[in-house]
Amino acid sequence: MADLTSSFVGIKSPNPFWLASAPPTDKEYNVTRAFQAGWGGVVWKTLGSDGPPIVNVGGPRYGAIWGADRRLLGLNNIELITDRPLQVNLDEIKRVKRAWRDRALVISLMVPCDEESWKDILRRIEDTEADGVELNFGCPHGMAERGMGSAVGQVPEYIEMVTAWVKKHSRMPCIVKLTPNIADIRKPAEAARRGGADAVSLINTINSITAVDLDAFSPEPMIDGKGTHGGYCGPAVKPIALNMVAEIARNADTRGLPISGIGGVTTWRDAAEFMALGAGNVQVCTAVMTYGFKIVHEMISGLSQYLDDKGMALSDLIGRAVPNVTDWQYLNLNYVTKAHIDQAACIKCGRCYAACEDTSHQAIAMSPDRVFTVKDEDCVACNLCVNVCPVEGCITMVPMAKGATDPRTGRKVADYANWTTHPNNPMARAAE
Ligand SMILES: Cc1cc2nc3c(=O)[nH]c(=O)nc-3n(C[C@H](O)[C@H](O)[C@H](O)COP(=O)(O)O)c2cc1C
Repeated sequence: MADLTSSFVGIKSPNPFWLASAPPTDKEYNVTRAFQAGWGGVVWKTLGSDGPPIVNVGGPRYGAIWGADRRLLGLNNIELITDRPLQVNLDEIKRVKRAWRDRALVISLMVPCDEESWKDILRRIEDTEADGVELNFGCPHGMAERGMGSAVGQVPEYIEMVTAWVKKHSRMPCIVKLTPNIADIRKPAEAARRGGADAVSLINTINSITAVDLDAFSPEPMIDGKGTHGGYCGPAVKPIALNMVAEIARNADTRGLPISGIGGVTTWRDAAEFMALGAGNVQVCTAVMTYGFKIVHEMISGLSQYLDDKGMALSDLIGRAVPNVTDWQYLNLNYVTKAHIDQAACIKCGRCYAACEDTSHQAIAMSPDRVFTVKDEDCVACNLCVNVCPVEGCITMVPMAKGATDPRTGRKVADYANWTTHPNNPMARAAE
């Protein structure tokens, strides 16, 4: 089995699977059971200072989006940081760390935006022997209205300032957790680096309203007739998170800054994708809240098997896909594929036909006995038929052979090999 031992900003863990700061990491009982199940590390549920008490709503905290099979795709929450007393958390953290020396234990923090508050909390957590801190600049509800969480994460100058305070008053590794509720994710990451952060983690939750009660006319979850935006997470946010991780990984100003990937990780494959795009490890929340701690078994065995099959070490995977993330103008416009329908697999439902005929390029023909075939001369290879087909693998996009003529455009396929520098490439001409 491949070695999954991980070292993230010097914090060692037996595998790169950590639990994200959230209810699963809110107390000793949960974290102990998570470690027993095999999780490599946890980021403890965000601690605040001993200020005004944290009081959560007494009504429902969560909303959700489901697939047709009732599988949970997206989770929305209006929960605050921990509402348990600071000292109780600190005592539990210390006990857990002593009992589980080989696991990573990072403490998530969110306190008011002044140097004294940060200095004070850092002093109080020092005694716990935790491995590092994660600065929660991401939660978009409840705390943001009090000038914390995403209220800080949306202002790069604040990120830099607070990170610098943390580095000044603590020797612990410092991970800055970013909010996705921002136009350009590279800016807060750059600010974190300027402030001295050892790493960034992302994403925290996305501002969202998952549903509206059409009798009460209120967003859900509804608290006595009113609702508010919450933070969205789970499988639905993975594509957004992957893109943001890649943006930071390939940005010259943050290149080499370690990234902890978060957002919809449910399987080993999700984790591997984050790592290929530059994440040094991953954090998981919604998937364990849906399926329980034991999903880590699948993650460990799946990732090990994958690395074994590829003959790769874990370190070979990290960032492996980053060089292949490019801007649109650098895509090879001479690469041509055509849809192909496997007649043996086709169940004749006609979805591909309806989609292509009604909304796209009229490139699928239907015979009287419902045999569906692709008209190469009309197919632009948009992939819509593949995406709407209910049978996985039934429709595939097949690259045309080099030298063949595309019946749609009359152009020869691959008649120039290197698109990046080819004179027909407008970007190559612009660069001259
Ligand atoms: C109920 C709930 C509470 C959360 N509380 C926190 C928190 O206290 N601190 C924090 O940094 N992130 C918090 N998060 C965000 C998660 O740590 C994570 O960034 C987000 O859920 C995306 O990961 P996922 O798609 O695996 O859930 C919370 C998420 C949920 C669902």
